Amino acid sequence: MPPGKLRLLITAGPTREYVDPVRYISNESSGKMGHALVAAAVQRGHRVTLVQGPVALPRPSGARLISVISAADMHAACAAAWPWHDALIMAAAVADYTPARRLPAKRKKSSSKYTLHLKPTVDILAELSRERRPGQVVVGFALEDHAARRRAAAKLRRKGLDAIVLNRPEALGAIRVGVEILVQGGAWECVPVGSKAQLGVRLVRLVEHLYRQS
Ligand code: CTP
Repeated sequence: MPPGKLRLLITAGPTREYVDPVRYISNESSGKMGHALVAAAVQRGHRVTLVQGPVALPRPSGARLISVISAADMHAACAAAWPWHDALIMAAAVADYTPARRLPAKRKKSSSKYTLHLKPTVDILAELSRERRPGQVVVGFALEDHAARRRAAAKLRRKGLDAIVLNRPEALGAIRVGVEILVQGGAWECVPVGSKAQLGVRLVRLVEHLYRQS
């Protein structure tokens, strides 16, 4: 790689956790933040791998794209790619739970109650952070609706991150967002409301800075 150019692993979008062949659990993530990060990173000359869940967005240009469906798929794709990258930006909204059992055929309706059993998914961010080699940079996101800074700071420590980007539920699908960033060992910094494109550039520059320091 040319000096100053990084290999970035970026994740985007939701995951889908199938209950049966036609029904799934998912979330509101649009994938726009991940795509803004990819555009900014490609623009700055970095080599980018995008691992994304199902999104209704055009294929981003200039990046290697790995499309996945479930949290387990995303975990496998990220774990395989991670050794060849300098930094991870985990913008995907990975499902925290998945059905304990996926039914092989469409479930028929009945008049009795139906309890869905869920099991936790692997925390991809925490695992890749734990397994990183010296110098690899890891940035995560936190979506919090209350006690936001305290919870996000705890998440940064628990997952051993270099930085965490705190946003609110309103950010999902939004065009413009305001976030707060905490770098490990630093203080909270507010990024005023702006486009996801602007935030993408800001975060890619932050990753470049963290990489130089690592
Ligand atoms: N994440 C992940 N794997 C999961 C769940 C989350 O890699 N199975 C990542 C997300 O991509 C994000 C960060 O962890 O970068 C924080 O996700 P968030 O949903 O805010 O937090 P959780 O750790 O899932 O905890 P909680 O939902 O209880 O706040």
